[in-house]
Amino acid sequence: MYYSRIIGSGGYLPERVMSNAELEALVDTSDEWIQARTGIRKRHIAREDETTSEMCYYAARRAIECAGVAPDSIELIVVATSTPDLIYPSSACLLQRRLGIRNGAPAFDVQAVCSGFIYALSITDQYIRAGAMQRALVVGADMNSRILDWRDRTTCVLFGDGAGAALLERSDSPGIYKTLLHADGSYSDHLQVPSGVSKPSADPFIRMRGNEVFKFAVQAMDEIVGETLADTGLQQQDIDWLVPHQANQRIIAATVKKLGMSMDQVILTVGEHGNTSAASIPLALDAGLRDGRIKQGDIILMEAVGGGFTWGSALVRY
Ligand code: ACO
Repeated sequence: MYYSRIIGSGGYLPERVMSNAELEALVDTSDEWIQARTGIRKRHIAREDETTSEMCYYAARRAIECAGVAPDSIELIVVATSTPDLIYPSSACLLQRRLGIRNGAPAFDVQAVCSGFIYALSITDQYIRAGAMQRALVVGADMNSRILDWRDRTTCVLFGDGAGAALLERSDSPGIYKTLLHADGSYSDHLQVPSGVSKPSADPFIRMRGNEVFKFAVQAMDEIVGETLADTGLQQQDIDWLVPHQANQRIIAATVKKLGMSMDQVILTVGEHGNTSAASIPLALDAGLRDGRIKQGDIILMEAVGGGFTWGSALVRY
């Protein structure tokens, strides 16, 4: 029986930091409102000439260096993003090119908005468990600044740009105990960018019914915990770290309370990064691994809710 385990992580955030004070000059908002309602203090915003695949590259390179493996030994590349460089080729193919990998490994994108990294991790885990691959690169990246309406105070204060990566390897023991994926497309109007290729419109920006998303997210995150732990032999109290999607500190706090955990057991990056969509979980994971909070053998629960709605979780022993 095979499992996959995480052997390296990396993150990348654009250099430019945008504070809440800067947003006060753009829309009718305040640092106080943003911090009180979301926990966000600042976010990183990409340069005009920067691309999603470039952000993926820096995050992936750090993960590869961290794991100490040869890029050519990577047998699968999956990138989760809703903001690719181009319609095609995929960001994963563009990343493969930047990394100089020419071993014929498959590379493709996954689009599940803020749950994208969990979706990509789950797909990759299935390949490794099935014995089809030994080593794979999973990246979550989003350049939300390109799809924000900078005149809409209900959305522009919430998001940021970034990329996070994890390198997975086949192992005889977990590793990843379990991943769960869910979607309910009947909620597709609640959170969307209402423009695309076959349905272009004059509104190519993130539109969100914040309250409805909030309520759904709190409930979904609560319900998925029991479902994730089922049949793993692990209990709620075995979870050392929660690495949640970083949309709003209040959603995270509600989940923590229901889990009977403490905020000290959460890797929290929303204050510094804002919501970086598919990048938020791998960026938080990388932060927790690099500063030594997450130690070998620790049990980590990752969970996310995103547009679609999509939601999912991963239970991992590091
Ligand atoms: N500054 C000041 N006031 C604001 C701002 C702002 N930036 N934004 C909204 N307000 C106002 C509203 O207009 C409203 O005013 P009114 O009462 O006069 O109408 C008031 O503040 C309260 O608005 P609410 O929407 O009720 O505020 P709430 O406490 O729900 O917070 C928020 C809004 C932060 C968007 C919250 O609902 C939220 O976090 N929702 C979930 C977002 C999320 O989880 N997304 C995850 C998925 S993201 C993805 O997949 C891409």
